[in-house]
Amino acid sequence: MKTKELINTVSQLFAGDKGLLAMDESTATCNKRFEEAGIPQTIEYRRAYREMIVTTPGFGKYISGAILYDETIYQATKDGKLFIDILKEAGIVPGIKVDEGTMDLAGFPGEKITMGLDGLKDRLAKYYELGARFAKWRAVITIGSVIPTRGCIEANMHALARYAAMCQEAGIVPIVEPEVLMDGAHNLKKCFDVTQKVQHVLFDQLFAQNVNLQGVILKPNMVLPGSSSPKQADIDTVAEATVTCLLESVPAAVPGIAFLSGGQSPETATAHLNAMHVKYRGKLPWALTFSFARAIQQPALDVWKGKDENVKAAQQLLLKRASLDDAARRGQYNPAMEKE
Ligand code: G3H
Repeated sequence: MKTKELINTVSQLFAGDKGLLAMDESTATCNKRFEEAGIPQTIEYRRAYREMIVTTPGFGKYISGAILYDETIYQATKDGKLFIDILKEAGIVPGIKVDEGTMDLAGFPGEKITMGLDGLKDRLAKYYELGARFAKWRAVITIGSVIPTRGCIEANMHALARYAAMCQEAGIVPIVEPEVLMDGAHNLKKCFDVTQKVQHVLFDQLFAQNVNLQGVILKPNMVLPGSSSPKQADIDTVAEATVTCLLESVPAAVPGIAFLSGGQSPETATAHLNAMHVKYRGKLPWALTFSFARAIQQPALDVWKGKDENVKAAQQLLLKRASLDDAARRGQYNPAMEKE
């Protein structure tokens, strides 16, 4: 195993107060977001959108790594420069989503399993050759009256661990993302219990598959009440529940944790990360940062609208969100900064 290389990549990804940008929406998800924003859903518009993102001036000051999608990793600017080269020049480590999405889990109504282990070894070798140094695999866990089941959690965490082992063998740092969805009317305690259970099984499986925890990044959900729960929680309660859950589940050997935003507004996701740092900075065994997609991209997508004349304004919004998340990692974010 290329342990030194893995550890070195992890340190680059957690350098300073930077965090990660997830720009790895599958074609279907990207098209869905474009449709909502009234943007044509074509390969050229997806390319132009990703060009707008990767060419954001100064992005490397706040963003340490960008997660790409298979279509995007081969794409280039209008002038023919590969996105992956632009990222490297900006000091941003290129990463790649390698799962192939979810399908219904046979025998478990209402639950999903993530696909993509078949042929993964060869795909990882190809992505390494292209310059990707970290990868992402997302498992989806839904909360309902009788779910998640043990069968669903175990199947998904096993797949995550097999993926992680293959990544490490290829010299690629695996981001393991067990996402407990916000959808539902459950309360914060239910999310806490499910998230904790999922992480316990995940680390059990990572040990069983000989994954070196020093070369892994955890990408978890924050612990939140369901999005339709009548009882929402304040910022400090979420921050405390999230960190407590992680302290009870995540071994100290894991170097870093990078949160997904999961459908929270950009401001709320930033405020939650900030509150964790205000209360726990310097007291945690691992680094805590962001790996947001929607919570960084959404304001810029709404302004871009697929038009060249909006590129500059959209890039300013991307840079602003990234800088606020960077401030949150220092515990120095203040909602008043949103208006500056
Ligand atoms: O897999 C999900 C993305 O990497 C994170 O997306 O921040 O919009 O939840 P999100």
